[in-house]
Amino acid sequence: MMQLLKESTAYIQSKTGGFAPGFGIILGTGLGALVKEVDIQYSLSYADIPGFPVSTVESHSGKLIFGLLAGKPVVVMQGRFHYYEGYTMEQVAFPVRVMKLLGVKKLFVSNAAGGLNPRFETSDLMVITNHINLLPGNPLIGKNLDELGPRFPDMSEVYDEHMIREAMVIAEDADFDLSEGVYVSVPGPMLETKAEYRYLSIIGADAVGMSTVPEVIAARHMDMPVFAVSVITDMCTPERIKKVVLSDILDAAAIAEPRMTMLIRELIRRS
Ligand code: HPA
Repeated sequence: MMQLLKESTAYIQSKTGGFAPGFGIILGTGLGALVKEVDIQYSLSYADIPGFPVSTVESHSGKLIFGLLAGKPVVVMQGRFHYYEGYTMEQVAFPVRVMKLLGVKKLFVSNAAGGLNPRFETSDLMVITNHINLLPGNPLIGKNLDELGPRFPDMSEVYDEHMIREAMVIAEDADFDLSEGVYVSVPGPMLETKAEYRYLSIIGADAVGMSTVPEVIAARHMDMPVFAVSVITDMCTPERIKKVVLSDILDAAAIAEPRMTMLIRELIRRS
């Protein structure tokens, strides 16, 4: 695995003139427009990078983008890998590990999620303050990659407190509501039953989605600070649940996208 990670990193460095990104960004379903704000210097298709799985979801375009955001060097994953696509947890986490080897110091993650907290509305943003992993695995299972991090990494503070506080200030200055809450990751790809939504709410989750946690676990294993935000694309409380199709999720994400982009851009500007 280390060998493949190093090969992948060397390939990327050879194609990007040694561009050294300080910040990594993973964009969720329907949230790819942040890329329009990046002054793009290099763009690589996942398919061309050794070791990179290829994204299969139509709404993801599958590119690694290098450029400047708020004047800072970033690498952006436009499209991520999900467990439900059939990838292993190691494959899902692979790009985050490559980011670390490329020199990334902080990770920013976005996702589309269902709202379990009755105070939420569709298209709200929720800063993730903690998570519950209900995926049937995680990228740290197997032989530990000692070069990357310890066998038993601490998870008592997963999401960077300083960046969470900064985000609240940015939202207040920009006059929009920013919620905080717990994200629970499930395998998917089907959305949940009403009984499952009730269960997820009872165990303490505010939002549910099918991504993020594997990448975050891999990042924290490497001691990389993480900021993550969910866009609430559909409400899953008993009174407000309705049939959801992907286009509804994309529409709701599009409404929230400018606020999410602004939040990440400003956090990077202040870093
Ligand atoms: N459940 C799981 N994942 C999701 C949802 C949901 O309701 N909405 C967007 N992603």
